[in-house]
Amino acid sequence: MTQDELAKVPLECDDRLPGRKQMRDDVIAGLRRSQKMIPAKYLYDEQGSILFDQICDLEEYYPTLTEMGILRDNIDEIKDIVGPNCLLIEYGSGSGDKTRILLEHLITPAGYVPIEISKEALLASAKRLTAAYPHVCVLPVCADFMQPIKIPTSIKAAGQRLIFFPGSTIGNMAPEESTAFLMRCATVCGPGGGMLIGVDLKKDTAKLEAAYDDTEGVSAAFAMNVLDRFNRELDANFDSSKFCYHSVYNHEDGRIEMGIKSLADQVVGFGNSEIAFAQDEVMFTEFSHKFSLGQWQEKANRAGFDIVHVWTDPRQLFSVQYMTVQS
Ligand code: AVI
Repeated sequence: MTQDELAKVPLECDDRLPGRKQMRDDVIAGLRRSQKMIPAKYLYDEQGSILFDQICDLEEYYPTLTEMGILRDNIDEIKDIVGPNCLLIEYGSGSGDKTRILLEHLITPAGYVPIEISKEALLASAKRLTAAYPHVCVLPVCADFMQPIKIPTSIKAAGQRLIFFPGSTIGNMAPEESTAFLMRCATVCGPGGGMLIGVDLKKDTAKLEAAYDDTEGVSAAFAMNVLDRFNRELDANFDSSKFCYHSVYNHEDGRIEMGIKSLADQVVGFGNSEIAFAQDEVMFTEFSHKFSLGQWQEKANRAGFDIVHVWTDPRQLFSVQYMTVQS
């Protein structure tokens, strides 16, 4: 697809996307809480997205490779369960690599709606996928999937809606947030619709901690990149040599907690505001919840879904689940 053709891809863009002022307000509010916390979405600037893609290629970061393997090994069964003519909707579509497995095999999909907050990543993947699958109508939407989104309708008559939500991104939400999100998904899917979702499973702590603090330091660089972003975009003056990456598994809450630890008592400027950090104080950047199959089933049922099929890898590290809206 040429630049001219790309410009013609009808792009729905949500003008509620956070701008700089919103980002500043969110970050300062998060850093003024007694437990400092930065909204994870701000980790994904251009450099953050590149670093996250590098994490996904790491052997230690098992979720991506394992989920791709599950999708490839079971795609014939998945395509039969989903059936023909679905409108495929993907939340947080990113590079769209996993989507290719679906688009290559689903039976005559009526359309593909990638939803992504990063306009550059969205247009680049819409361009690649349109070129690779010219028979599929691609309808990109630039939006924050945590907000209600209007789904464009495909030009072809669509069958049921299928939401694809891979990567266990659901685990990055707080428990009540993920249940509310699934409820919204059930409404978007409507009667007869379904969801194909990646859900990371509870496992050995060492395996989990290695996935989120790899030996090459990519996970650390991904988190620490946010300090450069704040210096650049929010007029902050973080000295990154006075902070380090922090990542541990919290057994009680069943989640990896990632953050940035202050190595000294210090004060950081944000334009005309100041934030004090105590030595060893951690500002959290992300939580990544892990589920047992039973815990997941309970959550899905509470949100209005029935689980139709669960696929896992031989070591039960990760699961891909097909769920339909309860009738
Ligand atoms: C996007 N999300 C599913 C990743 C995870 O595994 O929780 C985010 C991540 N952050 C650092 N490593 C991975």
